[in-house]
Amino acid sequence: MSKIRVLTGIKPTGTPHLGNYVGAIRPAIEASRRADVDSFFFLADYHALVGSPDPQRVHQSTLEVAASWLALGLDPTHVHFYRQSDIPEVTELTWLLACITAKGQLNRAHAYKAAVDQNTTAQLDPDHAIGIGLYLYPVLMAADILLFNAHQVPVGRDQVQHIEIARDLAQRFNHAHGSEFFTLPQASVDEQTAVLPGTDGRKMSKSYDNVIALFSDAATLRHAIFSIVTNSLSPGETKNPDDSSLFHLYQAFATREDTAALRLAFADGIAWSEAKARVFQRIDEQIAPAREQYRSLMAHPERIEELLRSGAERLRPQAHDFLGRLREAVGLRSLARLRPVAAPSLKKKARAPRFVQFKESDGRLNFKLVAGDGALVLTGVGYADAAACAQAIERLRAADAKDFHQFGHVGSGPGADQGVRAALDELAQAAKI
Ligand code: TRP
Repeated sequence: MSKIRVLTGIKPTGTPHLGNYVGAIRPAIEASRRADVDSFFFLADYHALVGSPDPQRVHQSTLEVAASWLALGLDPTHVHFYRQSDIPEVTELTWLLACITAKGQLNRAHAYKAAVDQNTTAQLDPDHAIGIGLYLYPVLMAADILLFNAHQVPVGRDQVQHIEIARDLAQRFNHAHGSEFFTLPQASVDEQTAVLPGTDGRKMSKSYDNVIALFSDAATLRHAIFSIVTNSLSPGETKNPDDSSLFHLYQAFATREDTAALRLAFADGIAWSEAKARVFQRIDEQIAPAREQYRSLMAHPERIEELLRSGAERLRPQAHDFLGRLREAVGLRSLARLRPVAAPSLKKKARAPRFVQFKESDGRLNFKLVAGDGALVLTGVGYADAAACAQAIERLRAADAKDFHQFGHVGSGPGADQGVRAALDELAQAAKI
């Protein structure tokens, strides 16, 4: 039974937070344990370069993100875990795809459009400070997906358009080259996964600066949870769990029963400080084992490096072979396989030069030397009989160029002597064969 290939990229642009964990990491790792799934997880570090971030930050974040996924139970012997930039075929495929991408389609891609809108609002040139990296982002992403013919791509809502672009490109390529090279990928958006509120109640997101780091120490985690904004209801007053960030946070980490119990406690007027303590305790409990794991992984970056590299090495042969087929399809082919074009011959295949004997009108015997192409090179002087004629021919064969004229009439003009020489040599050569 062939497995479903599920692929997703993680952009190393920061330190993983609780929102990443609940929204992406946890469900992805759970799904990767299914026996019928072949999972591909990679650090999208090429994507992380869009917007020219601090190199130091990309470097550090790559380590933190990789360590987080491993600490939370991603099994690199069971899934493909690699770094995008370790697979150069990704960038090669990006170009092949870029060449069939309609520019208009990229004009309509959300991230680019949003940047243009911002410029327009600020009355700047529409493309002010927009790099081609941002523009080509969806094409690079399509290459990630299509290189391994992923069936499913678990992503957040904001990425669905990118999967559609990948699908389109796959279709266009298949259509252009008359073969099913690419599998058409499908976005899978999990509507069930909770969107975690941040410390200010809005969606937890780095861009709102309201995140709680996943692997801070317990004291920092406690402090962050206690800083979550609540309303001013006093202990004993009934609180509404449904509009409470704390409650939603708890729900994302607790069992159904425990969640129901906290709901009751809210109705009973639990104090905010008590609610916060419970939330902290629950999250800390769940994170603590992975936190230990994370620390020991972070203490050995070289092991993570090794792991990512071997993850890429495992995939490269197939990526390489596939690219080979794609290159063939688009016309980047070995010249040696082209049907040879016959070289045009400048002269008809030359026959060997020859001596021709004939009788003169006065009855004497004579000979002429005719070149392979039929040109007359030398005519003898006329001989009494066949023996004399044959003897003259033999002497001519051995003669020096300066003596040719003694044997008869050599054509005039420069090169006439060389003509005789060449004809004699050719004749000698032909006789040897
Ligand atoms: N663009 C994705 C994000 O920002 C990351 C990503 C890069 C990705 N390549 C991918 C996701 C391929 C899925 C498949 O989250």
